[in-house]
Amino acid sequence: MEKKLCEPCKEPIVDKLPPCPLMCKSPKCKAYMAPIDTSKKSIVWVLGGPGSGKGTQCDKIVAKYGFTHLSTGDLLRAEVKSGSERAKCLTAIMERGELVPNEIVLDLLKEAILARAEESKGFLIDGYPREKSQGIAFEENIAPVSVIIYFEASSETLTQRLLGRAASSGRADDNEETIKLRLKTFLDNNDLVLAQYPDKLRRINAERPVDEIFAEVQSILDPLVA
Ligand code: AP5
Repeated sequence: MEKKLCEPCKEPIVDKLPPCPLMCKSPKCKAYMAPIDTSKKSIVWVLGGPGSGKGTQCDKIVAKYGFTHLSTGDLLRAEVKSGSERAKCLTAIMERGELVPNEIVLDLLKEAILARAEESKGFLIDGYPREKSQGIAFEENIAPVSVIIYFEASSETLTQRLLGRAASSGRADDNEETIKLRLKTFLDNNDLVLAQYPDKLRRINAERPVDEIFAEVQSILDPLVA
């Protein structure tokens, strides 16, 4: 009997689980199964400029909703600390305030999501996508996004917050020069990212007290978990 081949990996597809010997997880593959059933677990992208309060609000969301918080910045800093071969290169890119190549970011993100897919109540993806192509790659390789929360604040506010945090954060990129570069990278890409998702995008004015902002966040998330 002729064996059907998986188009991306060219391996035979077998009629049992796991369905493809290579489990290449390409959504183009007929054997592909998205790791997350988004009808049961929401995927929320949390976006905003550097210092817009993504991390601050994610902590509050985790406390109320029990979602799994994955910050691409934190994943990258952990990779840097691990001393892996690519750590030096990552440090240099992050200190220049530029974007790390997406193959690396998406790999880290995918690994972290897959490791928690079973038990997670939903995912908060903090700081991703930062480029139009990142959003496309995420939805092709992982799952469609449920809703996007975007924290909006002026460059002046963002700069002041990061400079205020610099004294205690210990982050190599919290200095005046790198903050300028991070802001530029953000401004160069942000409009294109947001323009891709007019129906899923929720903008929040982030120049208000933390709890006021969180009240608005809850009005977006409550219907998702109802
Ligand atoms: P990342 O770590 O994600 O940094 P960021 O986006 O610059 O954001 P921050 O974590 O600095 O700020 P935040 O928005 O979480 O604000 P926070 O709550 O801390 O990324 C670092 C680097 O990694 C990037 O530059 C890039 O090189 C790389 N990278 C990351 N993701 C990548 C990706 N997808 N692709 C490629 N490369 C990637 O708040 C900031 C301060 O403000 C705190 O002091 C806080 O207390 C205060 N604050 C918060 N809310 C309020 C409020 N409402 N009022 C007053 N103060 C407030």
